[in-house]
Amino acid sequence: MWVPHLSEHNQPVYLAIVDALGKDIARGQLRRGDRLPTLRELATALDITPGTVSRAYTEASRRGLTHGEVGRGTYVLGEGAPEAELPVAIPGSGQSGVLRSGVLDLSIIKPQSTFQEPWLRSAFAELSQGDDLGPALDYVPDGGHPLHRQAAAAWLSQWIPDAEWQQVVLTSGAQHGLMVAISALTRHQDLVLCESLCYPGIISVVHGTGRRLAGVPMDEYGIIPQALRDICKRERPAMLVCVATCQNPTTAIMPNARRAEIAAIAREFDFLILDDDIYGFLATDDDIRPLSTFAPERSIYLTSLSKSVLPALRIGYLYSPARLLPRLTAMVRSTVWMPSPLTAHIASHVLNTGLHAEIIARHRAEAAARQAIARDVFQRWELIGQPFSYHAWLKLPAPWGSDEFATLARANGVLVMSANQFEAGGSDDVSAVRIVLMSPTNQSELRFALTKLVSLLETNDPKLFY
Ligand SMILES: Cc1ncc(COP(=O)(O)O)c(C=O)c1O
Repeated sequence: MWVPHLSEHNQPVYLAIVDALGKDIARGQLRRGDRLPTLRELATALDITPGTVSRAYTEASRRGLTHGEVGRGTYVLGEGAPEAELPVAIPGSGQSGVLRSGVLDLSIIKPQSTFQEPWLRSAFAELSQGDDLGPALDYVPDGGHPLHRQAAAAWLSQWIPDAEWQQVVLTSGAQHGLMVAISALTRHQDLVLCESLCYPGIISVVHGTGRRLAGVPMDEYGIIPQALRDICKRERPAMLVCVATCQNPTTAIMPNARRAEIAAIAREFDFLILDDDIYGFLATDDDIRPLSTFAPERSIYLTSLSKSVLPALRIGYLYSPARLLPRLTAMVRSTVWMPSPLTAHIASHVLNTGLHAEIIARHRAEAAARQAIARDVFQRWELIGQPFSYHAWLKLPAPWGSDEFATLARANGVLVMSANQFEAGGSDDVSAVRIVLMSPTNQSELRFALTKLVSLLETNDPKLFY
């Protein structure tokens, strides 16, 4: 029988039980499908009232750690045991069951959140014991506090050999990094290029800052070099923004040879590259090099901790040639003055202690398990994904249109994003939706949502619904 270890805690007992539960799930001591003790059993073991245990179980369920049904017991929703053991309804199967929320949101790319709380708590606990919070407390010099830039450079050096901390600029997340780099390094009415289907945050920054946007046609490996060259022969782009690994939305990973070709075109036609590598840590192949390393003198590398740790940690990093640094740091000052040093301190702690590597390994394993579920559910359909990508790209068969399918899915309680929301110009008419696999709190919920999407696809007649 599972009995939590509650030796030292300075919070209500029911919260201490929930925290212990979260930690034991994260450590693998409790596995998906494990049955927890009854209220009375645990109350006796801990010498507390059954009401306190009941409060703890209610809170655990609210946090997505457990699933309970009156009379059937409380079960762990962590990793491990086969899906079939979980009492969750599958459409059309005749099984009964409930989802915790009415809507299944598969529309936002984010890491799986259920096991993050214990990590964050341990980081906070360690920080509160540490001796120097100085860098977290005051105004900091251009680019960020040197210790925070050094932590970033040490981490980035696995992709950017010999990364120099003086070339790192902290931002308030990658979206802010896009805003800073595009507005500092291009001028009003300049032409900025991106993938023909691209992350909407890039489209909105380019338009919002009064630059012109053009999409470069893509194939399954990302931007097509010849198509880029053709545009450059007609116009003079100032910058190419490119997501070369686990591209959003198509999941494409650009091979090194093509990265080298794109870099050569940038040199030939003299434009900058903004290498948005926010999903770089999800690459399948260790030999993949960031696009920016093929033309470091004209490239700005961008990443953040939103996808690799958690979106609330609003810290991003730009890595830039030294000559561009003053423009970037001036733009950080005029937009946010400085990203919060307090948050940067937590981020640096996560990087310096190796917690980050541990968290990434966990996210990659979870993504791989979810991609396997998606492949299984969509066997007969054209679903594109990478072994570790958080999202997948579903090509819709005729007669489905992207908006029609996304609207129908929404009406049935599943949120996905239509291809039209990523349209930057330059692409053929595509019928597709982006499906994010990481947001459901557990794998059963994901399978439920995906199965629902397949059953909608199988109706094969969009007009029936309008
Ligand atoms: C390609 C890409 N770049 C940047 C961002 C923004 O990330 P952040 O949350 O760090 O601002 C996203 C978010 O989804 C993204 O997909």
